[in-house]
Amino acid sequence: MSQEIMQDAIGTAQRYIAEHTPEVATAPMRQRYHFMGPCGWINDPNGLIYYRGQYHFFYQFNPYSAFWSQMHWGHAVSNDMLHWTHLPVALAPSESYDQHPQGGCFSGSAIEKDGRLYLLYTGTANNGHGFEQTQNIAVSDDGVHFSKYEGNPVIEPPEGVPHDFFRDPKVWEHEGSYYLVCGAQKSGKAVALLYRSTDLLHWSFFNVLFESRGEWGYMWECPDFFPLGNKWVFICSPMGVGERTTVYFVGDFDYETGTFVYTVTGELDWGHDFYAPQTFVDAQNRRLVVAWANAWDWMPFWKDWGPTYREGWCGSFCIPRVLELREDLTLSMMPIEELSALKDEGNQIAQLQVGNSISSLSAGDGISYELAFTIDLTRSDAAWLELNLRCGSGRALRCRFDFAKANMSVGRDNADGWSEGTSHSPLPLTESDELEVLILSDQSSVEIFVDGGRIVHSMNIFAGQDQNGIEVKAHRGEVYLTDIRTHSIRTVAEVF
Ligand code: FRU
Repeated sequence: MSQEIMQDAIGTAQRYIAEHTPEVATAPMRQRYHFMGPCGWINDPNGLIYYRGQYHFFYQFNPYSAFWSQMHWGHAVSNDMLHWTHLPVALAPSESYDQHPQGGCFSGSAIEKDGRLYLLYTGTANNGHGFEQTQNIAVSDDGVHFSKYEGNPVIEPPEGVPHDFFRDPKVWEHEGSYYLVCGAQKSGKAVALLYRSTDLLHWSFFNVLFESRGEWGYMWECPDFFPLGNKWVFICSPMGVGERTTVYFVGDFDYETGTFVYTVTGELDWGHDFYAPQTFVDAQNRRLVVAWANAWDWMPFWKDWGPTYREGWCGSFCIPRVLELREDLTLSMMPIEELSALKDEGNQIAQLQVGNSISSLSAGDGISYELAFTIDLTRSDAAWLELNLRCGSGRALRCRFDFAKANMSVGRDNADGWSEGTSHSPLPLTESDELEVLILSDQSSVEIFVDGGRIVHSMNIFAGQDQNGIEVKAHRGEVYLTDIRTHSIRTVAEVF
């Protein structure tokens, strides 16, 4: 019976999506090669998995409006994480434990067991007590149609954890046992709770994996925990820590005691539009990371989610990135090399001497392109390099590489007449004589990778087609750019 309720809800959603998709698909602000939902609102990536020879991406999805509300799990498959085929909605609110009208099926993860695909997700209910969050399971034999487990919920909030701060299970398998970590709160501070199971259906509390003394906020959304190199990494989007959208901790984990002790911490992406990332291991054994390219209204720099709601949609994902652990135990991430398939042959300039008058660069149509260059620090004596992207009509996204102060910023106060805020990060200058910069620009986003992805800024920009200039200028001296490579990036047709 309850299975029928969900199938009805999915049927209704699919009819709505089919009706609205054609108009949304041709809207001017749609991304050209980044992942988006077919229409409506999307936020977190969920259940990322390589299953039966294909990449499956699920995502937080409200098909009915371009604003967050009743959460479904959208679903799409791909062979290369660039060309996507949208599949029917995988989960819709239908049960007493997940049918909060302003909630529904919240974030979670996926795992394969005995050939079947399991989704672990947070159900949100409202029985007159606000958001009641529990962890739940749905399973599929074909990777397309899912049934919710009759034994749901499989985990309820433990004593001392408020029921509206208990969500986003991330599951993994180790030596025949299953583990999951989820975000929670205790005594007003963020904690990550670790659970254990032998069959994925019956779970017992194992340990508090990791906790905040307050310095890391009052809740960790979408925690992820995984081995990388010879270390363990904990990633989360913390609530209540200023401008930080996603932080990471590198350390050691003990399976005997379920404790994690970190020695290194950092920021995964310093931009304003990188939230709730999820990682997974792909067919080539790479650890990939994908995030929602946006932010929440409680972030200090937040203005709103941009004007795409007028086109009937909102939200995209960052380009999938390969996550790596560096020797100094910091993390870096770079775009997947599959992207090459969308690039044209490109152009190359061996060297450009940048002074205090503007030099223009050209890359593709100035909107959908990759631009890479190296800053030769041995010959550059300027205080800073200014790089303006999406220039036109007196507007631009302004990036500053400040060599004197060893910091970098990306400002969008005058980028599109809509967005606000400037992101700031250190500029890694100490280890080398040169600095590599790679920029991915799409219709509504810019991602900047510095020093092999040690520093990344991801920012949305809602600029018109006339904003297609790229300009560089040095201040108080000169900057030498070498090995400047540009490629146009082809638009990917959406398949519904
Ligand atoms: C993070 C988040 C999650 C929650 C989901 C709801 O962006 O707030 O904690 O599960 O979004 O859509």
